Amino acid sequence: MATAVLGMQWGDEGKGKITHLLAENADLVVRFNGGPNAGHTVIDRGVKFGTHQMPAGAFYAGARCVLAGGMVIDVAVLREEYDKIAQHMGEEPELVIAENAHLIMPYHRILEELEGSGEAIGTTRRGIGPAYRDKAARVGIRAVDLLDRERLEEKIEARLRLLRENWPEAGAIASLSAASIADDLLNAGQPFISVIGDAAGTVQAAMARGEEVLFEGAQGALLDLDYGSYPYVTSSSTTFAGLANSIGIGALEVKRRIGVTKAYTTRVGAGSFPTELSGKLGERLQQAGAEFGVTTGRPRRCGWLDLVALRHAARLNAPTELAITKLDILTGMKEIRVCHSYRLDGREIMSLPASSEEFGACEPIYESVAGWSEDITVVRRYEDLPHAAREYLAVIAHALDVPIFLVSVGPSPEETILTGFDRD
Ligand code: IMP
Repeated sequence: MATAVLGMQWGDEGKGKITHLLAENADLVVRFNGGPNAGHTVIDRGVKFGTHQMPAGAFYAGARCVLAGGMVIDVAVLREEYDKIAQHMGEEPELVIAENAHLIMPYHRILEELEGSGEAIGTTRRGIGPAYRDKAARVGIRAVDLLDRERLEEKIEARLRLLRENWPEAGAIASLSAASIADDLLNAGQPFISVIGDAAGTVQAAMARGEEVLFEGAQGALLDLDYGSYPYVTSSSTTFAGLANSIGIGALEVKRRIGVTKAYTTRVGAGSFPTELSGKLGERLQQAGAEFGVTTGRPRRCGWLDLVALRHAARLNAPTELAITKLDILTGMKEIRVCHSYRLDGREIMSLPASSEEFGACEPIYESVAGWSEDITVVRRYEDLPHAAREYLAVIAHALDVPIFLVSVGPSPEETILTGFDRD
């Protein structure tokens, strides 16, 4: 069976915990998009990890991990993470790296600073945008290039020549040398050379054998390059719609699709956020939910649940089930608000406008539901949740017409409720 775990908001939905839980039974775990902009929090046997490149499968002996062709990989970041996980596990994770995955080069981070997209979009400043742009412009360096030192250096030199022409004043570009970039890549990438290969073929074969294959998404539907809140998005396909292409498989074979959403909404970086809460309530969510970025440490903006945005995500991700995370953070609120629709220019609208200006002008229309005060972090059975909490979950499931199979009531793996309502 193939299962995809997909973000339904602006990233940071808690996919790390869900993939870590599901990876226990997986034969193959595949990260399919993005790069070290993602930060998944995984708590494995009491030790907290912020993973950026390695899939959650790395925490289980015997599970193989794949970094798919749709990713952009920072070799130095990957190496650091790989070594940490190997130390924790007592053995090196089994990995396949897609030969067509693109590499984040030192000049990608420099370009992001020179061009100011870090400021304008509020990016994670990990060189993600420039790396994907090089891919589309057909001047990228790919994992397969690491297999031939001479060719690698030539390609880097060709790219540097262009960059020097375009940025004649930039000292940071002038000081780069193709030979030392190639050296650094090959030093950091040494354990990976033998595992660069046909990742799509590996995944296809595992699926054909009927193995348990888990696809781990990064970011969320609202950050999708094509269908997110453009231009305040990342540079890759973050949705189920993009998964098949990023991996190189047929989408129809992925029967189980788990849409992950927080019980409220958060966003990091710039861009409109109609249900954002400023003031005390927003601060309360931020503090109680420890809403600070795993990758950048930036405080996350917090707000009420936005069902308009979630319905948009559901159309892109086609979830068969939902996982709702951080329900416990809402405990103690007398009243909880949910946004069903927006008001734009005096009209009520039910879907996300494509224009960022119009999206910025949308005002949320809320419905209120009752809160609860009982400590739900100790609850393990759906029926033991307070009535109001179950009512709140029902509002979400009903609005998306998708059953909830899992509710997370705390960060550790045990703080989880399996509802028993799944696609079957
Ligand atoms: P980039 O992916 O670094 O180019 O950043 C583009 C936008 O996506 C910014 O608003 C980032 O904050 C956001 N972003 C990228 N990755 C993540 C993530 O894993 N979680 C949350 N936001 C992200």
